[in-house]
Amino acid sequence: MTDIEYLKKYYNGNIEDAIKRLENGEPVQYIVGNVDFMGNIINVNPSVLIPRFETEELVSETIKRIKSTFNTKIDILDLCTGSGCIAISLAKEIDSNVTATDISKDALEVAKNNSKLNNTNITFINTDLYTGINNKYDVIISNPPYISKDEEIMDIVYKNEPNIALYADNDGLEFYERILKDIKSIIKDKYIIAFEIGMTQYDRIKSLKELYLPEASIECKKDLQGRDRMVFIYN
Ligand SMILES: C[S@@+](CC[C@H](N)C(=O)[O-])C[C@H]1O[C@@H](n2cnc3c(N)ncnc32)[C@H](O)[C@@H]1O
Repeated sequence: MTDIEYLKKYYNGNIEDAIKRLENGEPVQYIVGNVDFMGNIINVNPSVLIPRFETEELVSETIKRIKSTFNTKIDILDLCTGSGCIAISLAKEIDSNVTATDISKDALEVAKNNSKLNNTNITFINTDLYTGINNKYDVIISNPPYISKDEEIMDIVYKNEPNIALYADNDGLEFYERILKDIKSIIKDKYIIAFEIGMTQYDRIKSLKELYLPEASIECKKDLQGRDRMVFIYN
């Protein structure tokens, strides 16, 4: 579907105004104001990253692994929740207590409203990754910022989506390292860690896993385009 067809199908206001906004370079999802993420309506505005199809793949693959690993109610932590799309989809599919964090207060407002809209009961915490969190979790999932600061990205993304949602230091690896470094303090004995990753980052994330969680197993899964996109770390 083209962007104009998308607007015609989903936009409720004045279509001519909407087309002008599109021509001015605004992403169609911000103009419409919401997206469908795994069958859930997720409101979006420029405070949050527009949920991507690859992230739906991450959630589906994580659900499969959770279902084959746990058979009781579990505790899930979604780091860098943005619009809340991951946390909400998991809360709907899995018997669980879900907690989600983001450093952006504005993003968390959007996530809280999305949680209400989708009738989920999620604990949202405004913090830097898992700072101040003392609970332990069975599943930790994150789609953190992972674009290297010197990588060229599409203008429509750079100019419209929050930079804080996109870029990470250390060649895009900053958040994976920060998450893995102290993760033992917030995981149970048996756990699944699920990350969305950049397509060239797997080997370096594997080295970080060897450093911080040497006993755990690791698996990389490609997205539907055949690019490395998801990492699962288990114990
Ligand atoms: C790539 S977006 C992912 C959003 C959402 N989870 C998704 O998959 O669509 C990354 C999110 O990380 C948040 N973020 C950036 N730095 C953070 C930090 N230090 N601690 C927690 N969240 C952070 C941003 O505000 C943004 O919402």
